[in-house]
Amino acid sequence: MDIYRTNYRPIDCISPTQEKQISGELITRLQKILGDELNRMAMYLQATYSIPKNAYSVDYFGYSKDMQHQLICHAIHEMRHAETIGRILCKIGHNPRLKTSRLTPPKTYKEMLTMIFESEQDGIKNLSEALDATNDQEIKVTLLNQIREENAHLQMRTQIYDQIEKTGLIDTVLPSPEGAGPVSYDINILLDAFELEIQSIITLIYGSILLGMDMAIPPRLRALSIEDMQHLNKIAQDIITLGGRPVVSPESLNNVPRLSNAVQVIDHAIEIKQQKIRQYDQFSQMIKSKGAAKTLSDMMGKEEENISDLKGFANSLQTAEPIH
Ligand SMILES: [Fe+2]
Ligand SMILES: [Fe+2]
Repeated sequence: MDIYRTNYRPIDCISPTQEKQISGELITRLQKILGDELNRMAMYLQATYSIPKNAYSVDYFGYSKDMQHQLICHAIHEMRHAETIGRILCKIGHNPRLKTSRLTPPKTYKEMLTMIFESEQDGIKNLSEALDATNDQEIKVTLLNQIREENAHLQMRTQIYDQIEKTGLIDTVLPSPEGAGPVSYDINILLDAFELEIQSIITLIYGSILLGMDMAIPPRLRALSIEDMQHLNKIAQDIITLGGRPVVSPESLNNVPRLSNAVQVIDHAIEIKQQKIRQYDQFSQMIKSKGAAKTLSDMMGKEEENISDLKGFANSLQTAEPIH
């Protein structure tokens, strides 16, 4: 299959698979796995912000690690998994769709952790079926590594469940996202900022996927998405301080328009960052909490820097000569 017959630019260089026939089964599985990885990222972010910081710890290869920190690491792993699967879809000549199925919000800690357990198990099943549907060694090794990581997540999730159960929190109802009383005003503004960060993260990852095996720009796009994850985390901590609980809505996960090449995706990421600057400027004046207002206004300078980096990447892609 010739990937250049799709709408990719020649510089979106990913070596096409040597397989003569791509099974429909492999494409369907991978597309499903991609959406489910993003859903799991959302589930782990939800769990991260439902569990108090520095209150619980887990054993991580003999070291004690804060449970909240471990959960956000899992969210980042799932984001990377989505990126990897998207890249395999490019390799077999398909435009990956960043589309997730709708999740029912869990009511209790037990429901939340059960949902993660079922999703990880389902992920391993789908990855194993995709593994059986291909003979491409590179794809097989990638899928096997991902199965190994999902198994590690499952083990860690059991440890987390046991800890939460031990403290008697397991059947407790999760805190309300909007909080209660007058702080709801601030929390709702911060939840809008949280949504913008999610959209920015997903868009940057999409750009990285479409650039395939180019080793120059995708790692920088990923670094910017992790920087946005840090912004997201700061906003989340302010929401928690005010008594709310940040959740990732399926709408924000599915809000990236279907674009045909990395330059268009980078342009879209620039637009989101420009929107962030405009809105954070407004939000920081509207919000009553001084700490949260400072969090948002401090981010604006960083966004300006990121925009000029992204403009540079888009320019370099537009002026680069095709490699092949
Ligand atoms: Fe995963
Ligand atoms: Fe996982």
